Amino acid sequence: MSILKLENISYSYDGRGKVLENLGYTFEKGKVYAIVGRSGAGKTTLLSLLSGLSSPTEGKIYFDGKDVGKIDRYQYRSRYVGVVFQQYNLLPHLTAAENVELSMRASGKKIAARRARAAELLEKVDLDGTLAKRRVLKLSGGEQQRVAIARALSFDPEIILADEPTGNLDLTTQDEVMDIFARLAHEEGKCVIIVSHSPEVAARADEVYELASLRKKEARPRQNRLM
Ligand SMILES: Nc1ncnc2c1ncn2[C@@H]1O[C@H](COP(=O)(O)OP(=O)(O)O)[C@@H](O)[C@H]1O
Ligand SMILES: [Mg+2]
Repeated sequence: MSILKLENISYSYDGRGKVLENLGYTFEKGKVYAIVGRSGAGKTTLLSLLSGLSSPTEGKIYFDGKDVGKIDRYQYRSRYVGVVFQQYNLLPHLTAAENVELSMRASGKKIAARRARAAELLEKVDLDGTLAKRRVLKLSGGEQQRVAIARALSFDPEIILADEPTGNLDLTTQDEVMDIFARLAHEEGKCVIIVSHSPEVAARADEVYELASLRKKEARPRQNRLM
C-alpha cells in the first residue's frame, strides 16, 4: 500500500543550484528502502523533505494521499514519521527507558502508561530490562541505536526514516540493526526508508535507489536512479 509519494520534487538551498531535481517516487508500507548515492548527492536533504523538516522548492509530497504542505506539520513530524540519526541523538545521562519515555511527554499519556510503552518498545528492539535501566553513556553503539529506534517508534509512526543509521557501527552490529528494520517493515507493515552509502545496508533492502549527484558533470548510471 502506498504511503508516501513524491511528485516532481526539486530542492535548492537559498541562492544555490538545485540539489534535487524532479524526483518522483512512491514508497509503500511493508518495505525497506535504501537510498544510496555518493556524499553530497542530496540524501540528507531528501530525508529532511520526507520528514517535513523542510519543504520542497518545487513539487509535492503526499502522505497517505494528503499534501504534506497542507497538513499539520507538527503532527506529521511527531506522529506519522519517526526519525533515526547516525549520531543517535540520545540524552547520555538518562537511562534507555527514560530517553524513550521523555519523547512521549507530549502524548497526553500518564506516566505509568508511558513507562509501560517504553518497556514494550525497548523489548521490540531486543533490549532487556537490565539494559533499559542503564544510562545511555554505558551502552554500546549498537545498543544506543536500538534505543533511538525504540524512541522513533513512540507514536507508532507508519514511516521510519533513518540517515546513515549504521554509519558508526561494525558489520555484525549493523546487521542486527538491519534485522530490526526488516522486522518493522515485514512484520509490522512500516515503511522504512534508510539513507546509506553502505553496500551491506543496500543488500538488505527490498528496493534500492541511487540518487544521482547533480553537482557532478559526468554521466551517472541511469538504472535504479530515483526518478
Ligand atoms: N544547509 C545547507 N545550505 C546550503 N547547502 C547545503 C546545506 N546542506 C547541504 N547543502 C549542500 O547540498 C548538497 C547535498 O547535501 P546532502 O543532502 O547533505 O548530501 P548527502 O547527505 O547525500 O551527503 C551538497 O552539495 C551540500 O553541500
Ligand atoms: Mg548525508
